[in-house]
Amino acid sequence: MTDLSALPDDFLWGAATAAYQIEGAVAEDGRSPSIWDTFSHTPGAVAGGDTGDTACDHYHRWPEDLGLMAGLGLDAYRFSIAWPRIVPDGGGAVNAKGLAFYDKLTDALLNAGITPFATLYHWDLPQAQQDRGGWPERETAERFAEYTAVVAGALGDRITHWGTLNEPLCSAWIGHLEGKMAPGLTDLTAAVRASYHLHLGHGLAVQALRSAVPGAQIGIVNNLSTIEPASDSEADRLAARRADGHVNRWWLDPIHGRGYPEDMVQLYGVDLPVRDGDLEAIAAPLDWLGLNYYFRQIVADDPGAAVPYTRQLPGPNPQHTAMPWEVHAPGIGQLLLRLTEEYGARKLYVTESGAAFQDTVAADGSVHDPERTDYLEQHLAACADAVRKGAPLAGYFAWSLLDNFEWAYGYDKRFGLVHVDYETQRRTVKTSGRRYAELIAEHRAR
Ligand code: NOJ
Repeated sequence: MTDLSALPDDFLWGAATAAYQIEGAVAEDGRSPSIWDTFSHTPGAVAGGDTGDTACDHYHRWPEDLGLMAGLGLDAYRFSIAWPRIVPDGGGAVNAKGLAFYDKLTDALLNAGITPFATLYHWDLPQAQQDRGGWPERETAERFAEYTAVVAGALGDRITHWGTLNEPLCSAWIGHLEGKMAPGLTDLTAAVRASYHLHLGHGLAVQALRSAVPGAQIGIVNNLSTIEPASDSEADRLAARRADGHVNRWWLDPIHGRGYPEDMVQLYGVDLPVRDGDLEAIAAPLDWLGLNYYFRQIVADDPGAAVPYTRQLPGPNPQHTAMPWEVHAPGIGQLLLRLTEEYGARKLYVTESGAAFQDTVAADGSVHDPERTDYLEQHLAACADAVRKGAPLAGYFAWSLLDNFEWAYGYDKRFGLVHVDYETQRRTVKTSGRRYAELIAEHRAR
């Protein structure tokens, strides 16, 4: 029996998605291409040549998907708004048809008693904005705040919970340094500048939200990892410290008013384009912090690497997912406690937690996924344990509601509580989805 008794009575049970991963309809109702359209259509960039052109066709099938959420008993739904639907050129003219989609989705969620958590940026930068330099340039932060003001003006009368950026680490480091996500660059200077302007965009967006939405509950979503050295050697311990700087402190210190970690500024050796007032804007007070947790990282020294360390994959635990990422549930609790103790968090959400496994559809059409069920229970139990130790955790969003376009991995990696047959667009709630619904119902009835 999973002991979740420590979770507060008003704990929010949710599931999460992102626009490009589920919507499809990439050329409909005035949407412009984003950097992910460009990247996914670049030969060799995405496994199997998959693209988000159709994805889960959620743009048309959202009423059915809302029915699935209601069937699971969700309290909250975390989704992202596609900037290229709202301001197709990145800046300037607003596309009313794009807003209309999120407007009707919001109304329907509220009618179903499901609290919308809107993410403003889940990686789909309008390509036109990329063509003007993208995140390495300051203009993108300013355009992001303008787009945020448009969305807040249209939906802020109904949406209270707002997340600015999803996993800026991925946008900056994976998109601009490792080249494995859009825009596919491998340039440390561009990556560091992108990280800075993502933070600035976040800070300016918080200002826009505060002035448009009184009482807004605003946060940011970071993907963090616990880090351990591969050995006791001095070199590996220093590598672990660098990895912690790259993965965790770079993303947490500035938004907490601590500036950028000096050891990492030295290591990157890239001038940050700081102007007067920026660091204060970046550190705008927030109402909550979102944690996306997938794995711990065990790292060794690697003097030849761009950031000098390497990560062991999948890690020492024999249990791992299809990614292959190590299953290590204690990490989620350790990170919630770190955010509480080291960063003084007053409200936390697990904004994503989940796993890809090789699901198979049985002859009777059912999808039995005991590994995902176990993963979910282990991680929820670790969250409850962190709450017992003092973490102010207010909710948990399973990643993901649906199987979807897993970025550079394409459709092969399935994270959903609900299986999607991409040929027919048929949805089937997996055993893990049913278990999640049971846990929600038990919590509500206690
Ligand atoms: C985090 C990202 O926010 C989400 O888009 C992605 O699908 C999951 N991680 C799984 O990799």
